[in-house]
Amino acid sequence: MFIKKVGSIVVALSLLPAFAASQDQSQGQSASEIKHVPVKVTSAASGKEMYVSYCAVCHGADGKGNGPAASALKTPPSDLAALSKNNGGKFPSLKVSTAIRGDADVVAHGTKEMPVWGPLFRDLSQGHEGEVQQRINNLTKYIESLQEK
Ligand code: HEC
Repeated sequence: MFIKKVGSIVVALSLLPAFAASQDQSQGQSASEIKHVPVKVTSAASGKEMYVSYCAVCHGADGKGNGPAASALKTPPSDLAALSKNNGGKFPSLKVSTAIRGDADVVAHGTKEMPVWGPLFRDLSQGHEGEVQQRINNLTKYIESLQEK
């Protein structure tokens, strides 16, 4: 898989939105710590690839919020598989896409443990707003596919 370092861009934004969980076995510790890793370039066409690369570490591969980094967070990652169930059976697409993009007013209400992806996707897509929108749409659709009945 092709890995491109965009670390300097990420640092410039002071967002560091890519995470990897690690267990520090060398010191016999079992607690998870969060590491910031270079952002992997993904296809804007694959919601699944983006989800697995960027989101599963916290939200879990199945969306239920039990990814490997979850225990290191103060706020538990939302259960993304229960969004429809918690919304009267209707998938809240707009809420999801807004949460991913990280629009200012939503972030102000959040705990800031959920990374803001809009600026990062803008860098990955070299500023092409259409492609940023495609990334967010495909991620949103992928999360919709994770909904439990
Ligand atoms: C570092 C861990 C982490 C990563 C990585 C992460 N999230 Fe989150 N996410 C959270 C946390 C924590 C919350 C709960 C936010 C809060 O309560 O402020 C959250 C909340 C959300 C919500 C709001 C759900 C609701 O109930 O309104 C959505 C949607 C979401 N995340 C999607 C994503 C997507 C898509 C990605 C990948 C592009 C992602 N998250 C990556 C930690 C993370």
